Amino acid sequence: MLVDQFQRKIDYLRLSVTDRCDFRCQYCMSEDVEFMPKSKMLSIEEMYRLAQIFIDLGIRKIRLTGGEPLVKKNIESLIKSLGEETRLKELTLTTNGSQLDKKYKSLIDSGIKRINVSLDSLNVDNFRKITRGGNLHQVLSNLQLIKNYMQVKLNVVLMKGVNDHEIFKLVDYAILNNFNISFIEEMPLGEIGYGRDKTYMSSDEVLATLQQNYKLSTVTTNSGGPAKYWEIKGYDSQIGLISPHSHNFCESCNRIRVSANGFLYLCLGQENKINLIDPLRSSQSNESIKQLIVDSMKSKPKSHDFNINESHKIIRFMSHTGG
Ligand code: 5AD
Ligand code: SF4
Repeated sequence: MLVDQFQRKIDYLRLSVTDRCDFRCQYCMSEDVEFMPKSKMLSIEEMYRLAQIFIDLGIRKIRLTGGEPLVKKNIESLIKSLGEETRLKELTLTTNGSQLDKKYKSLIDSGIKRINVSLDSLNVDNFRKITRGGNLHQVLSNLQLIKNYMQVKLNVVLMKGVNDHEIFKLVDYAILNNFNISFIEEMPLGEIGYGRDKTYMSSDEVLATLQQNYKLSTVTTNSGGPAKYWEIKGYDSQIGLISPHSHNFCESCNRIRVSANGFLYLCLGQENKINLIDPLRSSQSNESIKQLIVDSMKSKPKSHDFNINESHKIIRFMSHTGG
C-alpha cells in the first residue's frame, strides 16, 4: 500500500498513454505543439508492466488519459488486459469522444462502466474554434452510441467570452441524456499563447450562474476527488464543480500520474517527478522499480500552487501528464 508523508493513501493512478491528440483545444495545447519523440514514450507492453507494478503496490483505480487515449495504437490491447485485472476496482477513461465509434466495443468488452468525455460547446463553429478543428457532430453521435452502455460524465472548461454563454445549454443537454457534467476551472498548464486570466472563471461564479436556473443541493458523499457534486432537483444528472485553484482537495488527494514518457508525477501542479522509463528499459527487476515508487512517496507535495496569473511557472502541458 502506498502512503505518503501526510498519511494520504494513494490508490488511484492516472496513466497518460500518449501526448498526441486529434484536437488542439486552445486551453490545453498551443497550435504548433511539439509532441514527444515516439522512441521516448512507453510502449503498450511497458505500460502494462508498469500498471502491474502499481497494482501490486495497492493501486485500485486506473484512469487512462492523454492526450487522447484512443488515438494510441493498440490501446485496445491495454484496455483488454487491464480489464481482466481482478484486483482493480475500476478502470476508466477520459476522452474527447472523437474516436469512440471505432473503439467503443473494446471498452464495453473490458467492462468499463464510466467514462469522461470533454465537451466544451454545443455550437458547431464554437466547438471547432475551441478544439481547433474538432467535429461536434461526430462527438455527439458517438455519445449516443455509448450512452446505453456506460455512465457518461461530460467535462467542460468554461471560459469567459468563449463558451460561458452556453452553460445552460450544456447542462440541459446533460439532463436530457442522463449524463453527469463537470465544470473544470482552467489550469495554468503550459504556455498557450494567451493570458488565461482573461478567460478564467471560478467555480463560485459558475455555481452562482447555475443557481439562477436550477435548484441545486450538495451531494454529501465524498468521491475522494477534487470535485464537489450537486444534485439538480427533479433530475438524475449531477453537476460537478472542479476547483483546482482552491487548495481544499489536496488534503484528501489519493492520486498519482504517469506521463506518456514514463515519468511518475506526484502532483499535477508541481514539477517533481521520478524517471521510471529508464529503470524499465535497463532490465531492472519489478521489485527495484517498486522500491523507487515507494520511496517517491516522500516527495509528494502537500499541495499544488497554481496561480492563474503566472502560467509561465509550470511549463508542462496537460497533455503530458493527463487530466
Ligand atoms: N485546464 C483545465 N482543464 C484542462 N483540460 C485540459 N487542459 C486543461 C487546462 N489547462 C481538461 C480537458 C479534459 C480533461 C482531461 O482536462 O478538457 O476534459
Ligand atoms: Fe486533446 Fe483533450 Fe487536450 Fe483537447 S483537452 S487537445 S481533446 S488532450
